[in-house]
Amino acid sequence: NNISATYECAPNIALIKYWGKSDDELIIPLNGSISITLDTSVLSSRTTILLIKSNSHKIYVTLNSATQEIDDGDLNKSPDDLINKKRLFIMLDKVRQNCILQDPFEYEIRICSSNNFPTACGMASSASGFACLAYCLSKAFGYKGDVSELARLGSGSACRSCFGGFVKWNTATDSAFSLSRVLFPAEHWPQMNIVALILEDGKKAVSSTHGMKDTVLTSQLLPQRVKIVEEKRLKMMQQFIGDKNFDQFAKLVMQDSNSFHAVCLDTYPPLFYLNDKSKEIIQFINEFNKIDPELKVAYSFDAGPNCFLFVLDHHIAELLFLIKNIYLNNSDLGEKIVTSADGNFLKSLNFD
Ligand code: DP6
Repeated sequence: NNISATYECAPNIALIKYWGKSDDELIIPLNGSISITLDTSVLSSRTTILLIKSNSHKIYVTLNSATQEIDDGDLNKSPDDLINKKRLFIMLDKVRQNCILQDPFEYEIRICSSNNFPTACGMASSASGFACLAYCLSKAFGYKGDVSELARLGSGSACRSCFGGFVKWNTATDSAFSLSRVLFPAEHWPQMNIVALILEDGKKAVSSTHGMKDTVLTSQLLPQRVKIVEEKRLKMMQQFIGDKNFDQFAKLVMQDSNSFHAVCLDTYPPLFYLNDKSKEIIQFINEFNKIDPELKVAYSFDAGPNCFLFVLDHHIAELLFLIKNIYLNNSDLGEKIVTSADGNFLKSLNFD
């Protein structure tokens, strides 16, 4: 009577970013966002769930090989790592209320999750992790609702990792409508490459959850950003991707990343996610782009110093050559090339 499921999901990189919630508990964003989901063959999270028929009602979570037993009592404490536990319970409640299992409370639950890349470094491991968890819970319990709503309750950006290609997550007043959907599959623009430059892999200073809360409370720039994103940028981004207009796409990606880091600086106390190396990369990309009339590369930074570069096939060799041989000059920066081209964002690894 045991039930199990395993899924692998990939992180996503926001092209138009989510920063700020109108509802902290339900994770409803102030503005919609658009992202591109990476390929599981390069970066991924893998989660297995096992439901064991029992009256014990215990929940065990193993994250990157450390196991914890968790119960409701923990949740009144608070800090960072408990936020994730609280969100797990919120997801579990949602699933149990709307599933095909007759007795959804009569199971011991074991969840085991791991990433093949560093956590908490701006590489959006929570996105791929919670997307996997949402798929696992959905499958194991026979959840009847929308998997992206479930993933969103774990971590906002996770709802975009539920799908491959170019994905949009909508804002809404009602939780049931703040969902993510594919705008264009990865095959739409197979020439697109993403290069991730890992500039630092330590834990970041302020988590996205806390950082954006402070921004909502203190930044006077944020309402302006939300308005521009909702009224203009989402539509523009959809159009540029649709037209495969790299020049316009690149400009908007960089502007939106800059605008997000501007509201971070406008937060009190200020949020410094970029470091000196990140700023050097920005300068380097600007110089590189000046050589030709059309833009060749775009950079984007999430809540951390690591850099994501977007570049089409015919410029990737030149870009990598310059980064490795001239710009980095044998420094120890890690570099990974990831492509969204084959749309392999989700794997279901075994079914009961
Ligand atoms: C900068 O989704 O990690 O990466 O919803 O509180 O879990 P919570 O935050 P999270 O925030 C991601 C912020 C971002 C931009 C983005 O991915 O859109």
